[in-house]
Amino acid sequence: MLKRKDLLGLYDTSAEEISEILSTAVNMKKLLLQNIKKLPHMQGKTVTTLFYENSTRTRVSFELAAKYLGAGTVNIAASSSSVQKGETLIDTGKTLDAMKNDVIVIRHPMGGAPRLLARNVRASVVNGGDGMNEHPTQALLDFYTMQEKFGSFKGLKVAILGDIKHSRVAKSNLFGLTKLGAEVRMYAPQTLIPKDMDKMGAKIAKSREEAIDGADVVMGLRIQLERQQGGQFPSLSEYSEFFGVNRELMRYASPHAIVMHPGPVNRGVELTSTLIDAPNSKIEEQVLNGIAVRMAVLFLLTQNREA
Ligand code: CP
Repeated sequence: MLKRKDLLGLYDTSAEEISEILSTAVNMKKLLLQNIKKLPHMQGKTVTTLFYENSTRTRVSFELAAKYLGAGTVNIAASSSSVQKGETLIDTGKTLDAMKNDVIVIRHPMGGAPRLLARNVRASVVNGGDGMNEHPTQALLDFYTMQEKFGSFKGLKVAILGDIKHSRVAKSNLFGLTKLGAEVRMYAPQTLIPKDMDKMGAKIAKSREEAIDGADVVMGLRIQLERQQGGQFPSLSEYSEFFGVNRELMRYASPHAIVMHPGPVNRGVELTSTLIDAPNSKIEEQVLNGIAVRMAVLFLLTQNREA
C-alpha cells in the first residue's frame, strides 16, 4: 500500500507503487464514466494548487479530481499571490499548513522546488512539473493510457520524439517505463537530447525511422519555445520536416500503434494535424485519464495520513 507523504517524481517511486496507483485509477475511471462526481473519499480535506508556471491540463484536472472526491479546493497563481511581494516558497507552504491545508500540488520553473517544499511542510506535496526535472502524474496518466490499450508493459516499445532536453515528461516516462519493463527509444536533434539519456536506460535512435520501427506507442513532445536558448534547430518548419512525425513515418510503427502527446501540442510541428486527429490518437483520452490518475494519487496519499 502506498505509504508515502509526497509524490515528487518516478525516479524514486517503485514499480509496485506505480501499479497500485494505476489499479486505483481503474476504479476512479469507472466512477467518472458513470458521471459520479461527488464521492466521499476526501471529504473534509483541502487541496491547494500552487502554480508558478502556466498550465491548463494539470491544474484543472487536479482541481476536478479533488472536487470529484469531495475535497475542498483552492487555486493559487504565483503571479497574483504574496510571492510577488517577496514571500519565499517555504513561507508560502507554512502559511498553507497553518490554514490546515492537506495537499499542495505545485508547478515550479526550478527543478527540486517540490522536494524543498515537501521537506518543510506537513501537507502532502505532489509535483505538478518542476523545471526540466519530472512531471510524475503526466507520466502516470500516459502509463494508464498505454495499459488500457495493451494490458501490460513487458516488452512494450515506446518511441518518444521531440524536445527531450527540456522535457520533464520524457524523464518521468523513462524512469517509470523502464521499471515496468518497457523499451524506451528516443529521437531528437542532437541539440535537444541530453548526452546521458542512454545511461538512464533509453535507446537513442539515429533516425525517426529507427525510433518508430515496430513501436507500439509513438509519443510526440512539444518543442518548448519558452526554454530554447536559440540555435538548437534552424526553424519550426525545418524541425517539422526533418524531426516531426507524419503519417508516412507511422508506417514503420506496429499496425496497432497509438499516437500520444502530453499537450499542449504545437500543431504541425512535432506531430501533423492528421496524426493528432487520427482514430489511433489517444491525446483526448490522455486528458480524461489524467483526472482518474490524479484522483487515485490524491486519494492514496491522503487515506493513510493522520489529520
Ligand atoms: N501536459 C501538461 O502538463 O499540460 P499543462 O501545461 O497544460 O498542464
